[in-house]
Amino acid sequence: MFDMLKHAHSGLRWVFLGLLIYATINAYLKWKKGAAFEEKDRKLNLFTLIAAHIQLLTGFALYFMSSKVVFEGSSMGNSVLRFFLVEHPFMMVLAVVFVTVAYSKSKKLTEHTARFKTSFTLFAISLLLLLAGIPWPFRELGAAWF
Ligand code: HEM
Repeated sequence: MFDMLKHAHSGLRWVFLGLLIYATINAYLKWKKGAAFEEKDRKLNLFTLIAAHIQLLTGFALYFMSSKVVFEGSSMGNSVLRFFLVEHPFMMVLAVVFVTVAYSKSKKLTEHTARFKTSFTLFAISLLLLLAGIPWPFRELGAAWF
């Protein structure tokens, strides 16, 4: 069960990351072009939101199952344990909050340019948080590429 969830969480990062990069570029190009915000743009933002929330759910489940999450004060002195106990969840929850606000704001706003500009700004912040908070294998946190 744990291994399955961990693999799903690890693999789903690519889906979320891919959709977020696509949605960020889409919002930027259409904002600059002054394009109309269409149903396909809302759907792209929605799929990004869904991927983010699925990732969040699997993350929360892992948080209470993983041997890398140790609820002890001494964990703060160990870079791997601190990363999974505090840094990774904090940055990832924040990244998902930005995606969620981007989706709801782009839905509520009425002016097309404002919808793309808002989506772009919030998605870009989320993307930076995501890139900084993922345990990439080269960071030597014991995580894999997939
Ligand atoms: C939403 C965006 C998130 C992304 C893109 C993401 C990505 C990842 C990746 C790539 C790994 C490494 C998996 C491996 O070993 O191959 C990982 C591990 C982990 N994540 Fe996340 N994560 C996210 C959110 C969260 C959240 C919100 C939590 C907790 C509340 C969380 C908890 C964990 C834990 C505990 C592990 C370590 C599992 C283990 O190896 O024992 N993640 N995450």
